Amino acid sequence: MEATSQNDNLLPARPGPLPGPRSATELKRLRELVYPGTSAHLSPFVVASKEDYLVTDLDGNTFVDLVSSSASVPLGAVRDDLIAPMVDTLRRVGNEDSHGIASELMLPLAEKLLEITPASLTRVDLGLNGTEAVETAVKMMRRATGRPTVIGFLGQYHGETAMTSALGAEEVEISRGIRPLSAGFAHAPYPNPYRSPFGPPRAGGSGDSTIDFLRDHLLFHAVDPAEVAGVIIEPILGSGGCVAPDGAFWKALTGLCDEYGWLLTVDEVKTGFGRSGEMFAVERWGVEPDLMCLGKAMGGGVAPIAAVLGSEEAMGGYDDMPTGSTWSWLPWACAASLATIEVFEKEPVLENVRELERVGREKLGAMATRFTQIGEARAIGGFQALEFVTERESRNRDPELQHLVERRAVELGVLTDSSSTSLNIQPSLLMPPDEFAAALDRVGTAVEESVRELGR
Ligand SMILES: Cc1ncc(COP(=O)(O)O)c(C=O)c1O
Repeated sequence: MEATSQNDNLLPARPGPLPGPRSATELKRLRELVYPGTSAHLSPFVVASKEDYLVTDLDGNTFVDLVSSSASVPLGAVRDDLIAPMVDTLRRVGNEDSHGIASELMLPLAEKLLEITPASLTRVDLGLNGTEAVETAVKMMRRATGRPTVIGFLGQYHGETAMTSALGAEEVEISRGIRPLSAGFAHAPYPNPYRSPFGPPRAGGSGDSTIDFLRDHLLFHAVDPAEVAGVIIEPILGSGGCVAPDGAFWKALTGLCDEYGWLLTVDEVKTGFGRSGEMFAVERWGVEPDLMCLGKAMGGGVAPIAAVLGSEEAMGGYDDMPTGSTWSWLPWACAASLATIEVFEKEPVLENVRELERVGREKLGAMATRFTQIGEARAIGGFQALEFVTERESRNRDPELQHLVERRAVELGVLTDSSSTSLNIQPSLLMPPDEFAAALDRVGTAVEESVRELGR
């Protein structure tokens, strides 16, 4: 029996058969023209319009958006208060290569970013998107220390250019053919309590088993710490399934960085701007990074813009390394970003995110109790995930079930994101909690139908 939420009437009616006829025609042609690496993953509809957390397709079907354009639309779609200052700036200033000619909103944006981020960060570099920000941060780590090796964590995603796909390690397809050609990266398992290959930390060690692994194994057997520029970490694993390390890890990690003079870079491209329930995820642990990468939500979901923020040590001691690209910090993107930050300052966004976390813990937790095929349910602010397994004891991943749940959820009118390891849920940070609860009930129905269909 399908469980219908009491609040289901708050959501739009369920869509008709997908794809509808107009979407089907466009999708067929797109698949013929567009590189399959992209078009193979297209949803079974074509978007015609959006409003807040709702997406309407060419055939008039409306979906509840729990993906938010890969968490890059933080405050609901097509907000006039973000678009108006952006269009006004575009009309007045047009486009400009901000590396050569400054425009009037660059300084206020740089100052505002430094005001709202940890005090260790005193400098700003301009970026166009998250991938570029991460590339720049890696170059800066190497330039500032004169050392080649950067340590990352298995499970992280940083982008798909040659450098960022070799630095990242979310799923093997992303770096296939590239990793053998990209030197200078070493990886340790992400500190993921659900899938840690390590036991508890050893007595007399660092206090954290991932950092013990780095010390006892990687740095002892393979990598000279004097050749390491630093560490790059997603403070909460985003695409990789909403996993957060604990306080002991951060203490041990910062201790290791201090001991060897490594720079600590946090990739807050996905976690930044409220997604975790804090403005920036590192605030949860009081971590003061040397470099911080920002992107996605920084442009409020209406403009592409990114940044790398750095300490004096990481960014202050040289000026001879080119970074960025022609359209980093377009004048109108700066306007959108400033307007976005103003919304965070004026509206109770973070309070709403905490409500979304409460709803997610309740609803996803209940699903995990009911279905043994859910190994773990996670909710950190507006970052939420279900990890599917063949059975609880083995914890073997079940991507077939996970992908089917995503498909069944679309058919029920709810968009989720089936990533490499988990079904990710990333609503607008301002989504009303009751509507979010009703949408999660539809996800629960999708799980029920999928488990039944696959005979799990
Ligand atoms: C943690 C993280 N870093 C970097 C990136 C790359 O950002 P973009 O795709 O906007 O260039 C992403 C994108 O998903 C991300 O999640």
